[in-house]
Amino acid sequence: MRSSRIAGLGHFVPERIVTNDDLAELIDTSNEWIVQRTGIEQRRWVDGDVGPADLALQASKDALEEAGLSAKDLDMIIFATLSPDINFPGSSCLLQKSLGVPGVATLDIRNQCTGFVYALSVADQFIKTGMMNHILVVGGEVHSSGMDMTNRGRDVTVLFGDGAGAAVLTVADDESCILDSKLHADGSNYDVLMLELPASRLNPRLSPEMLDEGRHYPQMDGRKVFRNAVTELPKVVTEVLEANGYTTEDIDLLIPHQANLRINQMAARTLGLREDQVFNNIQKYGNTTAASIPIALHEAVEAGLIKKGDLVVLAAFGAGLTWGANLIRW
Ligand code: UT7
Repeated sequence: MRSSRIAGLGHFVPERIVTNDDLAELIDTSNEWIVQRTGIEQRRWVDGDVGPADLALQASKDALEEAGLSAKDLDMIIFATLSPDINFPGSSCLLQKSLGVPGVATLDIRNQCTGFVYALSVADQFIKTGMMNHILVVGGEVHSSGMDMTNRGRDVTVLFGDGAGAAVLTVADDESCILDSKLHADGSNYDVLMLELPASRLNPRLSPEMLDEGRHYPQMDGRKVFRNAVTELPKVVTEVLEANGYTTEDIDLLIPHQANLRINQMAARTLGLREDQVFNNIQKYGNTTAASIPIALHEAVEAGLIKKGDLVVLAAFGAGLTWGANLIRW
């Protein structure tokens, strides 16, 4: 049976740093509130007309270079995003154009913060079956152009940042591989965290009245999302470990989705993990949704926190609701 392995990683964030104090000049919030509730100290925001496929281009080039491959070697590009550059076609097509490789298959994954975990699992299946050999998996987001910059949206606006991360998957040639993935969703809670408009279920999809109501901005019941995250994150980590005969003691590094430092600390406590078993970088980037795990994974590798043979778990939860985990032998 074939397996897949991550052969290259890359990430890219915009240069512009937006601190909590910068936000406090725009809306009624404070550095203390944001740091205390979320751990976020700053985030990166794009300047002008920049989309997630633009951010993903440099991350993808770096991941390809590390993998020793050219874009022409790719069989497919999978792009996980909740903030696609345009409504359709998908950001994977835009990235494919920038990489200059017409003919390569493209796929967009719309699983919000769990998008990269789902995308990695999908890519892994295509390589396992032998249908494909080299797949670029990207998580990329631009949130800053879609935030409510009034007090109405302050609970959401302070959380999100822009960025992209990329991984190149190839056929494994030794024990380094993606061992397993567990994926879940609960659509009965789709409206707990959503961006409704423009909505094709409405006719018209968008009207001045709807804009006045702010329905083109993300809406979130933060407490519900928080409760779900601290319950499901530890459960899915345990599930993927147990299914493969491991316990939390075997984890060398857990890379949780970066939505809230408090969520990750509570999940780590529930799992009985030491601080050095969990990687967080939300302080610098805020929540970059589908991009948060590949950015964090790349930073952890660059910092020398992951070495060959280590057992690594990626775990995420988010809108949908969706949650899931990948188990990787590095
Ligand atoms: O990837 C998944 C994405 N989302 C998440 O993971 C979010 C999960 N949820 C959370 O992280 C937390 O629920 C938040 C950080 C969003 C909010 O923290 P909380 O402790 O649940 O606060 P809250 O929503 O209950 O609000 C507490 C107070 C309210 O004021 P009152 O009613 O007590 O007077 C809010 O109006 O804080 C107020 N508030 C703010 N104050 C200053 C809400 N947003 C802000 C803000 N600055 N930005």
